[in-house]
Amino acid sequence: MTFGPEDFRQKIDVSRETLDRLRHYVRLLLDWNDRLNLIGASTIPDLWRRHIWDSAQVLDLVPGWRNASPPLRWLDIGSGAGLPGLVVALMGGGEVHLVEKSPKKCLFLRTVIQETQASAQVHEGRIEELKLPPIDVITSRACAPLPKLLTLAQPFFGPNTIAALHKGQNVEEELTAATKSWKMQVEIFPSATDPRGRLLRVKGVRRA
Ligand SMILES: C[S@@+](CC[C@H](N)C(=O)[O-])C[C@H]1O[C@@H](n2cnc3c(N)ncnc32)[C@H](O)[C@@H]1O
Repeated sequence: MTFGPEDFRQKIDVSRETLDRLRHYVRLLLDWNDRLNLIGASTIPDLWRRHIWDSAQVLDLVPGWRNASPPLRWLDIGSGAGLPGLVVALMGGGEVHLVEKSPKKCLFLRTVIQETQASAQVHEGRIEELKLPPIDVITSRACAPLPKLLTLAQPFFGPNTIAALHKGQNVEEELTAATKSWKMQVEIFPSATDPRGRLLRVKGVRRA
């Protein structure tokens, strides 16, 4: 049996309205995917697990996100189709900044935001060029290995910033490489959706 929106709702507590917005996003994702190759064709049959639940699980790494006042400010580096940042925005995670260098993917992201009224904005261009004040939560999935990712994320770290990062089975090697240049506190969590996947919660990032 395919994992679908109702299965997602069993895993993550979301309102009907939020689920409808996520469904709308998924419809657009499938519609645009033929032209833009936003997600791998082989992942489409299990899209709700591989992309929506996989993205939504970053919220578990951020205690108190639902009741944060003011709403949390998020930065998603290399958003692509909006994974995980747009899912976070659609779930009401706060104000999400999506950074993506591909103009076509940015057009897709803006279309979803306009149609779903997600609390997100798109920064078209390279993260290296972006200027923003420190962010509460930094996310990134499948964009860069940890040492490079920390270099890209570092300008957006304040004293209380958390990075909630999707990582794969090479996470230990990436951590070993990263600790040559960076000091930080790291917690490693198993992915709920992928037995080989890991999530990192990183705080206190500074140069070694
Ligand atoms: C493999 S895709 C992953 C997309 C999405 N995060 C996901 O998990 O499906 C990596 C994305 O990062 C974007 N990207 C890579 N380097 C970037 C940079 N320096 N600044 C902004 N976007 C970048 C690419 O254009 C691409 O869309």
